[in-house]
Amino acid sequence: MSKFKRTLITTALPYANGPIHIGHLAGVYVPADIYARYLRLKNEDVIMIGGSDEHGVPITLKAKNEGVTPQDIVDRYHGIIKNSFEKFGISFDVYSRTSSKIHHETASEIFRKLYDTGKLIERTTEQYFDEENQQFLADRYIIGTCPKCGFERAYGDQCESCGTSLSPTELINPTSTISGNPPVLKETKHWYLPLNDYEPWLVEWILEGHKEWKPNVYGQVKSWIDNGLQPRAVTRDLDWGVPVPVEGTEGKVLYVWFDAPIGYISATKELFNTLSPSGRDGEGLWETYWKDPETRMLHFIGKDNIVFHCIIFPSMLKAEGTYNLPDNVPANEFLNLEGDKISTSRNWAVWLHEYLEDFPGKEDVLKYVLTANAPETKDNDFTWKDFQTRNNSELVAILGNFVNRALVLAQKYYEGVVPERGELSDYDKETLAAISTIKGEVEKSIDNFRIRESLKNAMDLARLGNKYLADEEPWKVVKTDPERVKTIMNICLQITANLTICLEPFLPFSMEKLRGFLNFEKMDWEMFGNTELLPVGHKVNTPELLFEKIEDATIEAQIQKLLDTKKANEIAGAKATPAKENIEYDEFAKMDIRAGTVIECEKVAKTKKLLKLKIDTGIDQRTVVSGIAEYYEPENLIGKQVSVLVNLAPKQLRGIESQGMILCAENADGSLSIVSPDVVVKNGSEIK
Ligand code: 2FM
Ligand code: ZN
Repeated sequence: MSKFKRTLITTALPYANGPIHIGHLAGVYVPADIYARYLRLKNEDVIMIGGSDEHGVPITLKAKNEGVTPQDIVDRYHGIIKNSFEKFGISFDVYSRTSSKIHHETASEIFRKLYDTGKLIERTTEQYFDEENQQFLADRYIIGTCPKCGFERAYGDQCESCGTSLSPTELINPTSTISGNPPVLKETKHWYLPLNDYEPWLVEWILEGHKEWKPNVYGQVKSWIDNGLQPRAVTRDLDWGVPVPVEGTEGKVLYVWFDAPIGYISATKELFNTLSPSGRDGEGLWETYWKDPETRMLHFIGKDNIVFHCIIFPSMLKAEGTYNLPDNVPANEFLNLEGDKISTSRNWAVWLHEYLEDFPGKEDVLKYVLTANAPETKDNDFTWKDFQTRNNSELVAILGNFVNRALVLAQKYYEGVVPERGELSDYDKETLAAISTIKGEVEKSIDNFRIRESLKNAMDLARLGNKYLADEEPWKVVKTDPERVKTIMNICLQITANLTICLEPFLPFSMEKLRGFLNFEKMDWEMFGNTELLPVGHKVNTPELLFEKIEDATIEAQIQKLLDTKKANEIAGAKATPAKENIEYDEFAKMDIRAGTVIECEKVAKTKKLLKLKIDTGIDQRTVVSGIAEYYEPENLIGKQVSVLVNLAPKQLRGIESQGMILCAENADGSLSIVSPDVVVKNGSEIK
């Protein structure tokens, strides 16, 4: 670790306005957790920071829609998110939140220092104001017609119909969503961080000094800098957030992206306060992690956060003057789901709290799949089929299978007692040496934040074991040379013991289980590569299955869940067809529509769509042929009241005379739903 004595790992603080999904896990928390666990196994001094981002306009909007306070919203989701992280074993040293007192104090102090030392500039601009409610309107609180596509409910920052980024003043007929009135432009004062002043320093620090950063991160930073940086507002007119700590600024708060990264600092303070016997970090240990140049800081984030963590937050810290800057920002790209962008509003996601319910005890499986398919260099796709294949053909067939065979054979031949090794063959020596080679490869990739590759390297150890076992065939050798089997089994058991160290950062729950099978303590990374981890005479236990196969039906149920979501979205999103030309009442009155009851019903032979119904219309009993066979079973319709157009000219359909038509509503997906009176009425009642 060269010039550093310790590592501070931060993980992007998720917004507490919804639960978290696999995209969050894959992009940020799983890689950060693997990295932190790896450093801890190496006995390095490391802390991993997390927490909920509890400010910002979307939280206030959600609260307003639900008729509750923003604090209610963040309390709810902070709880859900924290719980999901705990269940998945994401090993935060602290999981804090930005609505806490310590955070408000910390964010205020940093703002105040920048303000007092003249690092911020003050600007007055015109912004939309709701006169009835006497408040400035955040962009999301203003809707109007999109100047690009004409969509009538575009937001002040973006049109959700055509995707164009907008500023509120571009909207045609802007309306405040709070009062429903047109807003007026009014002057307001805000503070800005003059990012343009930091440009030369950013060029030197990142573009020249951090060429080793991941190409996706470096490239994005370069493009921001090449396009020229502008002063960035760090305050907002809003009543939810950290109040601006300057007199006469009522109704103004710090911009959520100003306070959120400071959340990492507040969480560190909270951690050391909690660890300190007095409840107060009297020694100021938090500062060691933030200000000592021998601390290495790493930000684990998703690609949408790159500008904030590589340009804005570092400029804030630079302006403050006493803090370290990140040594690396290993940002990931996005994870898609079954070919589509993950979306909270469209419910297109695998939610962690739902996964935990549907796949109890399989937390490691999801983490494995998300790592094996991590979006490190480009966007990747999560599919349930791939999830099943990786579980069945990798975790079960490679890792689980090797471990199980090694332990079952050890029971069978030696009642679980580790046998002595005899003279080693060249192949034995090669196999034992390969353990250390694999260790080196895992280290090389993980040290360079190639976590996906490091998992593959680590799984090579299980592959090595499988191959050795298959090549040596102790079940055959036992008949001819039982002494030799002792050596083979000893080597297999040493590989198994090494696996518990090698895979510990990736599959912590499963490795704990495996250590239980081996009757083996948790060991440091340093011990990985040792070929005598299990002493001769040590007794291992009878194993259970480490991983179980996931059946097709389980996967199909998950796919069906997504198909249902897709269908619901299509229905919700479909636009109604435009209204037809106006008609006079007389034209409508020509139609004679009556309530009638179905008394007989059967499918029309050799057709998929047609039902033949006999209907008591109150006037008579008549036959109607209707194209609803795909949506209704005949027996379920008998006794149902329907609306019948009785004066439609009769028509022959498949040789049957249809004397009228049943009224149906057509859904966006083309399915039909019979229109019935909402209470049973007398047959023959006119519908008008
Ligand atoms: O993009 C997001 O989800 C933000 N809540 C991340 C904040 S990271 C940090 F700055 F707190
Ligand atoms: Zn538009």
